[in-house]
Amino acid sequence: MTFEKYPFEKLNILLKDITPNNKYEQSSLTIGEPQFDTPQFIQDELKNSTELLNKYPKSAGEDYLKEAMISFTSKRFNVNLEFSEIIPVFGTREVLFNFPQFALFDVKEPVMAFTNPFYQIYEGAATACRAKTIHLDLTKQNNYLPQISDEELKTCNLVILNYPNNPTSATITKKELEKWVQKALKFDFILINDECYSELYFDENKKPVSLLEACISIGNNSFKNCLVLNSISKRSSAPGLRSGFIAGDKDILKEYMKYRTYVGCASPIPLQKTAAAAWNDEVHVQGFRDIYKKNFEIAQDILGINIPEATFYIWLEVNDEERFTQELYEQKNIKVLPGSYLGRNGIGKNYIRIALVENSTKTKEVLMRLKDFIKGYK
Ligand SMILES: Cc1ncc(COP(=O)(O)O)c(C=O)c1O
Repeated sequence: MTFEKYPFEKLNILLKDITPNNKYEQSSLTIGEPQFDTPQFIQDELKNSTELLNKYPKSAGEDYLKEAMISFTSKRFNVNLEFSEIIPVFGTREVLFNFPQFALFDVKEPVMAFTNPFYQIYEGAATACRAKTIHLDLTKQNNYLPQISDEELKTCNLVILNYPNNPTSATITKKELEKWVQKALKFDFILINDECYSELYFDENKKPVSLLEACISIGNNSFKNCLVLNSISKRSSAPGLRSGFIAGDKDILKEYMKYRTYVGCASPIPLQKTAAAAWNDEVHVQGFRDIYKKNFEIAQDILGINIPEATFYIWLEVNDEERFTQELYEQKNIKVLPGSYLGRNGIGKNYIRIALVENSTKTKEVLMRLKDFIKGYK
């Protein structure tokens, strides 16, 4: 089994012989990790829960955590889930890696499709499953919406979409998602939407939609063949808490739950208690949304970009993304991620990904430096 090098490892290799300009403080815009303190009430909840360390956590998760997640999906998406329709997980990364292995285990020649560029765990999972991969290319020309023929789709066992999208920041309409649900039912494949960025939106009237809502609106009330993933990492600036969920088709989840018993990824009970408090609160999330919105407004002023509907990424078109990344580091001591490290078959070429995960003062300073660099870049 050969796994592709992780994008950050490729970046380290690309920059290893370069001496950055020490006139500037080093700024990294590479990683999708919010650089803010986890809100105090979440930290306090964790400190107050340490007495719960004396128990083994259940793989299925504590009821109060499931209730908090169910309440979140109800308030946010107006979708009322049953207990059997949701499983708390140890961050969504582990699910993205092990769910395909569970789902495709009995398939002789598995086929997995996912959006391209992508969060690299999708590809790692396909490698681990020995699945044939179909890349759903996201380009400016197709408006970052995958185009795939029915002929090809018929061959898929598992499709992973990711809207709001990392790294392109594209969003999808409910109408489009409804079409995907119809296809998942017609051709009998499992459809996942990775919705980890659904809470980082900037307009109350344009909140990202969930695949669960699309299911309900076309009458797939049991979410047959459909699953969503969501996470607290970006929403609450708490990636270290490792709290996410998988929700949807209860027949699939029932079997997956059995499998998870063996995976052994149960979240420690103090973390579950803390995560429940975070999922139950919306005020702190609004605070983060305000910060990201401000960052995008700064980026719009400085770089002239359009503000996306969600996420904290800028997918910026540049000439020769690797050279751009090297020279930017050398001249301005700023690290960005070449888009081609996140895509395959030429997707992501001539793009860089910028993560706006710092406060607005730092964001402004670093984007001014970036602008200055772009002016002289040929
Ligand atoms: C698209 C996407 N999905 C999933 C994850 C994993 O998030 P977590 O494991 O923290 O829930 C990330 C993290 O960067 C991501 O960008």
